[in-house]
Amino acid sequence: MKKQVIIDCDPGIDDSLALMYALASPELEVIGITVVCGNVPTDAGVENARKACRLMGREDIPIYAGAQAPLSRALVTAQDTHGEDGLGEAGIPAVSEAERAYDHMTAAGADSDLPEGVRFLMERLSEGKISVIAIGPLTNIAMALRRRPEAFSNLERLVSMGGNFKSFGNCSPVAEFNYWVDPEAARYVFEYSKVPVEMVGLDVTRKILLTPEMIAELKKLNHPMADFIVRVTGFYVDFHKIQEGIDGCVINDPLAVGYFIDRTLCSGIDAYTTVETEGLSVGQSIVDEKGFWKKPANSRVLTNVDAKRFMRTFMAALFGNEAEGMVR
Ligand code: RIB
Ligand code: CA
Repeated sequence: MKKQVIIDCDPGIDDSLALMYALASPELEVIGITVVCGNVPTDAGVENARKACRLMGREDIPIYAGAQAPLSRALVTAQDTHGEDGLGEAGIPAVSEAERAYDHMTAAGADSDLPEGVRFLMERLSEGKISVIAIGPLTNIAMALRRRPEAFSNLERLVSMGGNFKSFGNCSPVAEFNYWVDPEAARYVFEYSKVPVEMVGLDVTRKILLTPEMIAELKKLNHPMADFIVRVTGFYVDFHKIQEGIDGCVINDPLAVGYFIDRTLCSGIDAYTTVETEGLSVGQSIVDEKGFWKKPANSRVLTNVDAKRFMRTFMAALFGNEAEGMVR
């Protein structure tokens, strides 16, 4: 039985790989993609989501623009990491009008003040039995939850790539980008979500490394999806070498998809988590592992991952038997 999911994203290089993975996975029915400001401004993210859907032959998937800015602060993008265009400035051709199945929703009455992506989330969640895989800042999710909390009573799962527990931050010593860009949204979602937030944070995603060896194997495949991955990750690999002194690049977002499909890939703890919204540690996800605040657990915080098994599953989903031997 396919699981119906909405992917909320800020594509973004690793978001694009996550979209490819989700669209290649028989376990999932992606009923829509909502785009949030984050790695790049929202409109660039929409264009990049279209490029991923075109690559996968899934121009039928509706893509909706969500929030253009965080709830209550200015947008700070990660174009230094993902390139001005959000795809490593790899020159991926634009998606023409003719190639687009970009659905515009009818103006939804009282909610017409909200972005289409937020309205799509509210409307489809109200119908029930849907999950959300959020791999960008949580602005869209927070806006939908604030306006129509009852819609979230039907939510099956909320998996969020974001935050960090015992791992260091990537935007400050203690903060991870998705929660740092919009800490108010992240705090709101953790506080009011009707289902635990399954937090796929840096503690586990940092172990998901696309190595130079894997990239070399991808080049041998002579496959459009492999070529796309090689092209868009070039800029990202250079950034990782300079910024984190590692060879290859960390691909955070695909793990959120992988974990949604197969929970056994990761282990973690159930705990109360909140997000700091001011001061030096703004954006830090604070996991009350020892229960100091005596609040009920509102999150599943992942702490370990079988990185090799994930990477093999990810590559096999995209390339089938051709992925044999790619991940050593
Ligand atoms: O911190 C990593 C996260 O921030 C990833 O989702 C990346 O795409 C950016 O959105
Ligand atoms: Ca992302």
